[in-house]
Amino acid sequence: MKTHILVVRYVCLAGFLLLQLAAGQDEALLALEAAEEATPTPLPEFKCPVKDYGAIGDGTAYDTKAIQTAIDACTKNKDGGVVTFDEGKQYLTGQIIVKDGVKLRLPKSATILAGSKRENYPKSFTDWYLILFQCQNCGAEGQGRIDMQGTLWTYGGNMERKQVTNWDDASCQMQDECRPHLVGVRDSFQVTIQGVELYDAVHWAVHILRSEAVALMGVSIWGDPLVPLSRGIVVDSSRRIYLGGDVISTADNAVTLQTTAADKPIEFVLVDGGLFQSKSVAIQIGDQTRAHMTTLVFQNITIQQSHRGLAIAVRDEGSVSGVQFTNISVEALFFERSWNGAAEPIHITAMPRTVGTKVGTVTDVQFTNISAVAEAGIVVAGSPGSTIEGLVLEGLQLELTRQTDIPGGFLDYRPGLRGLVDDVTTSAIFLEHANHATLSNVEIVWGKPARPEWGQTLEITPHSVHAISVQNLFVHDESAHPAGDAEAAGSARGTMMEWVRKIQANLRSGNGAFLKLEANAARGVVGRRAASSASVAMLVLSAIMAVALVGFVIYDQITRRRNGAKPTFEKVASA
Ligand SMILES: *[C@@H]1O[C@H](CO)[C@@H](O)[C@H](O)[C@H]1NC(C)=O
Ligand SMILES: *[C@@H]1O[C@H](CO)[C@@H](O)[C@H](O)[C@H]1NC(C)=O
Ligand SMILES: *[C@@H]1O[C@H](CO)[C@@H](O)[C@H](O)[C@H]1NC(C)=O
Repeated sequence: MKTHILVVRYVCLAGFLLLQLAAGQDEALLALEAAEEATPTPLPEFKCPVKDYGAIGDGTAYDTKAIQTAIDACTKNKDGGVVTFDEGKQYLTGQIIVKDGVKLRLPKSATILAGSKRENYPKSFTDWYLILFQCQNCGAEGQGRIDMQGTLWTYGGNMERKQVTNWDDASCQMQDECRPHLVGVRDSFQVTIQGVELYDAVHWAVHILRSEAVALMGVSIWGDPLVPLSRGIVVDSSRRIYLGGDVISTADNAVTLQTTAADKPIEFVLVDGGLFQSKSVAIQIGDQTRAHMTTLVFQNITIQQSHRGLAIAVRDEGSVSGVQFTNISVEALFFERSWNGAAEPIHITAMPRTVGTKVGTVTDVQFTNISAVAEAGIVVAGSPGSTIEGLVLEGLQLELTRQTDIPGGFLDYRPGLRGLVDDVTTSAIFLEHANHATLSNVEIVWGKPARPEWGQTLEITPHSVHAISVQNLFVHDESAHPAGDAEAAGSARGTMMEWVRKIQANLRSGNGAFLKLEANAARGVVGRRAASSASVAMLVLSAIMAVALVGFVIYDQITRRRNGAKPTFEKVASA
């Protein structure tokens, strides 16, 4: 089985490198790049052409039995085999199950069409997949299309979402979710899916469950933007997953990592390259977090036109740790608010799903070289029982721009107890219940024209944030003040000036490290709501403590570029 050995080695290598990455070894990055150049090797020689087993490929007659018989013949061969489809044909089929050692080869212009009848799928809704990989050393490749024919399930609806047929079936209790997924990879090992196009799914396009060493490379997923729950790739309770250069456009999340079984963690996920678009969240870790998730690396990714960019949402007892996001560009804008998200480029939350839920933690999450254009800011919100620990934002460029007139001004904490919180101003960076956060080389541009709800640059909920270190925070304020809101803007400035005075009053002279806020910065740094002097002092002191402990230099510069004035970056003080 030479074919698979390279792939397996590749996935193993990626896993190993991830370990090194977790240990912070930079060489790993270089090696990883080299590994990226590896591509899977030729397919097994043994072929099982579906037409030899009776497939017609006219798009009308069911070829289910023919395709399944071809798969069964190939799996019986000692070294496995390739089930081949013909160019220009359309194969209508019910569920097919891919078995050990079998690869599907779907050439360009060959299409697999999903049957849409209840009897095309097995008894229990947990088995409702069009193509189910339940195998070792198996996969699919080629430039052909697998078409779920979502239009056959959808009808009417409104401008925002279509109505979708859900089967009335005793095996399915979740009323809104009683319809099949497109591809399932379940209890499998060493699965490679390369190049195929997954089209018009009516539920999730790919569900990877309890599997190991799965690679999806150059896969494209095109979903209907009006179909609820039509997710891209969902990785659940699996290890060593590689997603390389996939292109996904879906209404629900493009990529989701979740753990639905308390004893099945997610470990070693590498998402390298890719273009994602979602009316909900482009990349979401959570919200189902029954078991822990660790060593997750995302790099060289472009996120376009999404309702939320990068998200971690812990709502259950599992924890998330060791996450790196590097070289990512994000564009986040508002969609109608029934879709998850609120135009945030980054959104990290850890809070209870229901009363009494034990909530896991979020620790050691690093964002490096992120450039974002968004209508709202970054939200980092733990909860009293679960503080966000060790967040690093290094090299962030965030440009706030108004792109839509869809109303904002709310915090979206769904799912969970807090839900939507209305009537708030949105800040460029909002921190609540977070410890040991480091912000360095962060550049915030407030674009023009402003959105009415825009608030401050850095907003911190008093009493809940400790040891935050800020180095090189640059703010360019090009926005006009919200029209007709001069009073609010004035009072924001008043709040900030008051705050500056308090900071200054709380600094002991000669301690050598402090935050400096330029007096004319319109969008400054504030504690949320009534920032008492005690809480301000706490923030400042904890900042100093972080500096003292870690030996960082705090620079802080808030400037604004109005009337073409260039910002000046002056070193304020050193520890
Ligand atoms: C980044 O990913 C894209 C595919 O999404 C790929 O074409 C490009 O070569 C990658 N660049 C690097 C530096 O890895
Ligand atoms: C990020 O991009 C830079 C420049 O293209 C490259 O040198 C670096 O290796 C990339 N890092 C990662 C982790 O992709
Ligand atoms: C940062 O990421 C962008 C892609 O988003 C890349 O083009 C650029 O080279 C990266 N820069 C560094 C210094 O890594």
